[in-house]
Amino acid sequence: MRGHLNQATCGIHVRPATEGDVESMYALEQMCFDVEAFSAHQLQYLINAKTAYSFVAEYDDAFAGFIIGLTNRNRFGKYGRIYTLDVDYRFRRRGIATILLKTLMERLRQAGCTNCFLEVKVDNDKAVTLYEKMGFERSRIVPNYYSDGVHALKMKKTL
Ligand SMILES: CC(C)(COP(=O)(O)OP(=O)(O)OC[C@H]1O[C@@H](n2cnc3c(N)ncnc32)[C@H](O)[C@@H]1OP(=O)(O)O)[C@@H](O)C(=O)NCCC(=O)NCCS
Repeated sequence: MRGHLNQATCGIHVRPATEGDVESMYALEQMCFDVEAFSAHQLQYLINAKTAYSFVAEYDDAFAGFIIGLTNRNRFGKYGRIYTLDVDYRFRRRGIATILLKTLMERLRQAGCTNCFLEVKVDNDKAVTLYEKMGFERSRIVPNYYSDGVHALKMKKTL
C-alpha cells in the first residue's frame, strides 16, 4: 500500500508520486543528471512498481524534488535501496532532500526493511555529506560503476 504519508514543513509538502508527476520528474532528472538520467518511461514504470516507493516534494506548490526507493530481499531479509534523489537547484539547501529521505526511510521501515543501501558518485561531495548527515556509512568503492568511468561509493544505513 502506498500513499498515506504526508508531511508539511516550512512550506515543504511531501506526497506520494503519481503518473501525473512523470513530466516534472523527467525534467528534474535532466537537470540533475546527465547520461545516468532515467527516461520518462523508466520513471513511469517505477511509480507503478509494487516494490518501489516514490515521493514528491512541493515547495509553496512548486514541484521541487523527488525520491525513489526500491525494496528487495537477500538472505538477511528485506532491504531498501535509494534509486534516485533530485532537488531543483532553485530550492536547494532548504532541507528538501532531508525531508524526502526521512519520508522514504520511514516508509521502508514500515515495509519491513532493516537496512537501506545506495550508490553515489565518489566526487558528489554534497550528496555524500547529506547521506552521512542522515546516518549512512561508507561501505566500499565500486570502480568504474558509472558510464562516465566515475567510481561509486556504496553507503549503508541500518533502519
Ligand atoms: C544533493 C541534493 C539532493 C541535496 O538536496 P538539498 O535539498 O539541497 O539538501 P538539504 O537542503 O536537505 O541539505 C542537507 C545537508 O546536506 C548537505 N549539503 C546539501 N547540499 C550541499 C552543498 N551544495 N554543499 C555542501 N553540503 C551540502 C549539508 O550538510 C546540508 O545541511 P545544511 O544545509 O544544514 O548545511 C541536491 O543538491 C541535488 O539534487 N543534487 C543533484 C542530484 C544529486 O546529486 N542527487 C544525489 C545523488 S543520488
